[in-house]
Amino acid sequence: MNGRVVGYQLATEYKDSGHIVRLATVPELQGMGMGGMLLGEVIEFFLKRKKDEVTVNTQADNYTSQHLYRRFGFTQTGHESAVWVAAL
Ligand SMILES: CC(C)(COP(=O)(O)OP(=O)(O)OC[C@H]1O[C@@H](n2cnc3c(N)ncnc32)[C@H](O)[C@@H]1OP(=O)(O)O)[C@@H](O)C(=O)NCCC(=O)NCCS
Repeated sequence: MNGRVVGYQLATEYKDSGHIVRLATVPELQGMGMGGMLLGEVIEFFLKRKKDEVTVNTQADNYTSQHLYRRFGFTQTGHESAVWVAAL
């Protein structure tokens, strides 16, 4: 927007599916439709690539993103992702 990056998504492609790795918009412009636009675009991209499904991980308490994903037809699988850590 006016030369400034105000949102992005990063996704990876597998044989039959796509995975959304990151989706974010700048806090002061949230709620204006950009997240939905980015999500719609990446889903459209995977539809054109004939993928069967799209996956995404989000935090259990990230209700804003869950609201958005639900609107686009995502449902919870029930799987919980393990988080690994290495002390530095
Ligand atoms: C999730 C995120 C990408 C949504 O981006 P956005 O630009 O706000 O998206 P939209 O404007 O399309 O809004 C999505 C929905 O969330 C709602 N929403 C946005 N900000 C909100 C807030 N602070 N509180 C409650 N609802 C909110 C919008 O009203 C909209 O609802 P609708 O689908 O019923 O219209 C953005 O909140 C974000 O960057 N969050 C931090 C990073 C993150 O959590 N990424 C997703 C995890 S992978």
